[in-house]
Amino acid sequence: MCGIVGYIGTKQAAPIILEGLAKLEYRGYDSAGMAVYDGQKIRIKKSVGRLKVLEELTHGGDLLPGYLGVGHTRWATHGAPTDANSHPHYNEKETIAVVHNGIIENYISLRTKLEGKGYTFVSATDTEVLAHLLDYYYKGNPLEAITKVMHRVEGSYALGVIFAEYPDRIYAVRKASPLIVGQSPEGCFIASDVPAILKYTRTVYFMENLEVACLKDDSLTFYSADEEEIKKESITVDWDAEAAEKGGYEHFMLKEMYEQPKVLEDTLKKCIRNRDICIEELAMTEEDFASIKKIHIVACGSSYHAGVTGKYVIENLARVPVEVDLASEFRYRNPILEEGALVIVISQSGETADSLAAMADMRDKNVKVLALVNVAGSGIARGADYVIYTWAGPEIAVATTKAYSTQLMALYLFAMKLGKIKGALKQQEFEEMLQDLLRLPGQVERLLANTGRIQRFANRYVAARSIFFIGRGIDYAISLEGSLKLKEISYIHSEAYAAGELKHGTISLIEEGTLVVCVCTQPALYQKTISNMVEVKARGAIVLAVTNEENREMEKEADYVIYIPKNNPNFANSLAIIPLQLFGYYVAVEKGCDVDKPRNLAKSVTVE
Ligand code: G6P
Repeated sequence: MCGIVGYIGTKQAAPIILEGLAKLEYRGYDSAGMAVYDGQKIRIKKSVGRLKVLEELTHGGDLLPGYLGVGHTRWATHGAPTDANSHPHYNEKETIAVVHNGIIENYISLRTKLEGKGYTFVSATDTEVLAHLLDYYYKGNPLEAITKVMHRVEGSYALGVIFAEYPDRIYAVRKASPLIVGQSPEGCFIASDVPAILKYTRTVYFMENLEVACLKDDSLTFYSADEEEIKKESITVDWDAEAAEKGGYEHFMLKEMYEQPKVLEDTLKKCIRNRDICIEELAMTEEDFASIKKIHIVACGSSYHAGVTGKYVIENLARVPVEVDLASEFRYRNPILEEGALVIVISQSGETADSLAAMADMRDKNVKVLALVNVAGSGIARGADYVIYTWAGPEIAVATTKAYSTQLMALYLFAMKLGKIKGALKQQEFEEMLQDLLRLPGQVERLLANTGRIQRFANRYVAARSIFFIGRGIDYAISLEGSLKLKEISYIHSEAYAAGELKHGTISLIEEGTLVVCVCTQPALYQKTISNMVEVKARGAIVLAVTNEENREMEKEADYVIYIPKNNPNFANSLAIIPLQLFGYYVAVEKGCDVDKPRNLAKSVTVE
């Protein structure tokens, strides 16, 4: 997704912008650019490709001198990744420059109208419409022009705008795309995300929808879309800047996998007190819990996979019915939401466009929303009725690992709390499960300490064309995530299947030597899954089984076995996912793939 960084202050802007954009690389991008006011005019440099290209083009920023500028990394939506389509975009007189994250939905009709008025477009982007529209409305008052544009455009936008006639300020605007503003003694900043400016300031303002900020080197003013000044409170961000660096690991993904024991423990520590679950930030009373009759989990990607596990665990432990939906489906499917429904939106970034939209729709319908989010102050965290934070810290690798693991943990805690209040879990059972949870971080650590076997196995399968993951129940949910981890970073085609469904189609794809990863951690389903394993083996498959350490007889059936330590079957996902994350990682490394930034993917998908 696109990234925005802007700076105005006492230092040279371009190097700060380049540095900030580098911290946003995790969002995924295909081109980059900057606009800096040099004392006389706004100069733009932009190019398709990695940030390195922009750095070379500007000699590390030296060729764009000035104390005021905005920069952008683009993830193409409207128009191919080309130099011309890269941001920033100018008006024709080159007196206004704009960077944009989001999608202007009515850009075609606006473009037609502007062309009718004589404006010439040089790109295929929706963003260029904004530059010309600002020009059209600009009569000497930038704020007035901006708010007029806000009233005319539909869709989502985070904008950084500079006007050559007002070289003492940057304007920032936001609607449904993330944007933050930072302040320091050396100037003010805008950015799509906190890590971009963490080096310079920890004083941050999270912009709300339809707010405008005017940044000067020594002051900050916020306005509503009606040009009225508004007061906003700053937040002090306590993230460790070091935490956003690789810390000696070859890839962020590897580092983040190894952080899992710690972040699981952090999440647990914050929530377990006096043999009970007390989620500090969760403003739900016992009555609120007791009134829940049905749960709808809504999310995208790996967060959705955490939700699939959540369904099994909540239904097992709390006996409350749960439906799980992909946010992109849920928001358009007209779901039936009766009295007592709770929607749980799960999101690492808290900014995923479909999840945000699904949440907003629920709020409009007066349905209570609980957000499970990793980023405090994100759109989803701010918009929900209730919040549970996952304490994974900043996650940089596009393929999520530690955030997914903390999502599972948060779901277990929620399910247990609900189960206890609903009377489905007796006190003793509840306390035993708390002990099981407390053992998880150490068990994950043991799995991560012993990676030689999975690495050797992965090296053997780098040339595979297609790999299948099968399992039943919670093992199916684990398979979904294991398969996604592999395919998204190694580019090997992979599918996850409910093991019992295999014979209704997918089994026709199994041939001599096809690798099938069989997840088999659920005691109640063990024999059933073994039968499915035998079926694929009979058709020539090579089977890698992931099972509990007591199931030694698995070695008679599978070609390779990876054991996970003994724990409550409801929590098996947290353990079984570790070898599967490692498997995907090692296959991708051996293939020479760009593990942290897989092609075509973005960390934070802030457009629909
Ligand atoms: C992208 C990321 C995934 C993530 C998904 C949902 O596709 O690459 O890792 O699971 O978005 O993101 P969210 O921030 O809402 O969890």
